Amino acid sequence: MIQNKNILIGITGGIAAYKIPLLVRLLKQAGAHVQVICTESALQFVTAQTLSVLSENKVHSEFFDPETHLWNHHVNLGLWADAFIIAPAGSNTLAKMVQGQCDNLLLTTYLSARCPVWVAPAMDLDMYEQPGVKLNLETLKSRGVHVIDAEEGPLASGLSGKGRMAEPETLFQALNDYFAPPVTGWLGKKVLVTAGPTYEAIDPVRFIGNHSTGKMGICIAEALANLGAHVELVLGPTHLSVSENRYAGNIKTTRVKSAKEMLQVCKDLFVHCDGLIMSAAVADYTPEFVAPEKIKKSDERISLNLVKNPDILFELSTHREQHQFSVGFALETQNGEENALQKLHKKRLDAIVLNMVNENTGFQSETNKIVILDNSGKKIESDLKSKSDIAVYLLEHLNLILFKHENENRH
Ligand code: C5P
Repeated sequence: MIQNKNILIGITGGIAAYKIPLLVRLLKQAGAHVQVICTESALQFVTAQTLSVLSENKVHSEFFDPETHLWNHHVNLGLWADAFIIAPAGSNTLAKMVQGQCDNLLLTTYLSARCPVWVAPAMDLDMYEQPGVKLNLETLKSRGVHVIDAEEGPLASGLSGKGRMAEPETLFQALNDYFAPPVTGWLGKKVLVTAGPTYEAIDPVRFIGNHSTGKMGICIAEALANLGAHVELVLGPTHLSVSENRYAGNIKTTRVKSAKEMLQVCKDLFVHCDGLIMSAAVADYTPEFVAPEKIKKSDERISLNLVKNPDILFELSTHREQHQFSVGFALETQNGEENALQKLHKKRLDAIVLNMVNENTGFQSETNKIVILDNSGKKIESDLKSKSDIAVYLLEHLNLILFKHENENRH
């Protein structure tokens, strides 16, 4: 999805430049952020005002802003962009790109951009057939630049042939396709994800909690959203939240405190979901009574009666519909696999994700290492990775475990 992506458009001098405002409009309608760089000659074919109104941004064309005299940071523009499209790209610009020349802001930005780059060549038919131009396009392709081939039809010269810049809709499609999530079983699925600790109140100011930050579950929610799934994230108390990236719109977060609250919210949401991934560190026990006022310091010793909390995963998993999948987590300090397998069977899960507690894994750690066990006896073990990489790894394997038949039917 191109929504919330930063798209940089570079326009060079050519009659097809008049079509770029339409590309800007298509991108903006799809929710992308757009900035435009024009070469000096591009501005003879399209006005900066048109582009700036449509992109809702200032148009860049010179190294220094003529009004403020501030430097236009080509490096910043290159870093800002998730994609850079140069359209129309004339033969001169293509040649300079190949040679690494940088005599204007557009070329300088190209040289410092780290994002993928597209070019949409536009020139007269004989120019397009020139061996030098062809070689330049081949060279750019071999360096990873995406070339959107010119189309056949009437040309500004009055001749007819191949050389017209591809239509704005085609340019938009090329960018949109690039950012479309890969087609896996996750695409379009609605997934309930739980994350974080629960807080079990003792009195109005105290609670029983644990060290979970919810990071692993948030990474799973984000990775699911990136794959085109819709996520209901039920999040226990944590200072963390979903990052404001381009797919954040696919995640709806409901914050809860206690296990009971989490159970109620999950029950309500799960009926509308295709499955759940339960990574929350739910408190197993909760105080039998919550003191209505702050408990005063008096006796040397006081005791707290705890009663068992509902097992949310067990409740949901054992009452689920046949089409719904269920994945749990097991955080263990010893006999990891044995304990995880017991939970897999007892809670009637499709798969369980085991993570052991040590200095690089588990609560409050930036990294994790998991073992995925499924109910057919399969065991998959990851290396130590960042939690966001672990989330991607987990979803790749769950895709194979959970959606095997769907994936086969698709191919
Ligand atoms: O039984 P145990 O707590 O080790 O199981 C861990 C799995 O069960 C995790 O997926 C956790 O989110 C879930 N769980 C739950 N409700 C509880 C306790 C754990 O949903 N009360």
